Amino acid sequence: MSEHVVADAGEISTPGDRLMVTIGSRQIGIFNVNGEYYAYPNWCPHQDGPLCAGPVDGTTDAVYDRETLTETETWVKDGEILRCPWHSWEFDMVENEFLHDSDITLPSFPVRIEDDDVILIL
Ligand code: FES
Repeated sequence: MSEHVVADAGEISTPGDRLMVTIGSRQIGIFNVNGEYYAYPNWCPHQDGPLCAGPVDGTTDAVYDRETLTETETWVKDGEILRCPWHSWEFDMVENEFLHDSDITLPSFPVRIEDDDVILIL
């Protein structure tokens, strides 16, 4: 494993901030999700789309009542969902899983802030 100083901490200090960095041949997105840092490859397992370039958002959780045949929708995971810009697969950055199939995960990389530097560990 190797450590890479990729930015000043101020560049990603606000929840919702993101950085795109290139280390060797790898493009990696680093995200501030509610004060925690997550890093994933800029790659979508669906059709190789640029996942980390997509919008960060939440998602809708729906509960169906079979007796009344009604649906209740709730907005959840605000700021935790990365949506692929090509076909809208939704990726939960906190849980490291795609919402439609939790068996599909991504390689993840540790990030830490030290002396005002963002350090990515590959
Ligand atoms: S390439 Fe990401 S959803 Fe299709």
